[in-house]
Amino acid sequence: RSIPAEPEAPAGTLEALRAEADGCTRCPLYAKATQTVFGEGPRDAEVMFVGEQPGDQEDIAGRPFVGPAGRLLDQVITEAGIDRSRLYVTNAVKHFKYEPRGKRRIHQKPNMDEVKHCRWWLNLEMALIKPKLVVAMGATALAALTDTKQRLQDVRGKAIAIDERRTLFVTVHPSYLLRIPDERLKAEELARFREDMLNIQRLI
Ligand code: URA
Repeated sequence: RSIPAEPEAPAGTLEALRAEADGCTRCPLYAKATQTVFGEGPRDAEVMFVGEQPGDQEDIAGRPFVGPAGRLLDQVITEAGIDRSRLYVTNAVKHFKYEPRGKRRIHQKPNMDEVKHCRWWLNLEMALIKPKLVVAMGATALAALTDTKQRLQDVRGKAIAIDERRTLFVTVHPSYLLRIPDERLKAEELARFREDMLNIQRLI
């Protein structure tokens, strides 16, 4: 008796999109990465958080924001009363870009070409999920989500109307907070990030 073939996810679903993105070769980053790290969250999420690109741990796990930056994000959103399981969490770029240094893999910032190629997936995620609120974390997400070259510090902490249905909220990236060496500055920046998350919670 023949075994029925695994049914393919119907075209236009999140599962089909994810499967398609698994084989993405639109830019050279796929060659060195372990796998595509696609967005994650409910199909009907009203809020979408966008980061930069998967880090070392995300590349291995195949899931966004599960490493140190993800743990900080989880902690701060939970304190603010935001439930991660209700968010769609994704990245501007879906492959980990790095330079090997000994046994370590050192994160490298994606360039605008890579961001533009990967916007193909981000736009499709946006079209399917149709979030009411999009949160850009960091300059790369801001550049991917807007065509204008706005500086992060000029729009940070603000809710900007994209159109009648959608709002964009801009904040810093949690990895930036983890990298601040000065303890006082770090505490100040963390407090601002917490404030941003509380403001997001008020918008939801
Ligand atoms: N940083 C990001 O921008 N995204 C992740 O998924 C992890 C770290």
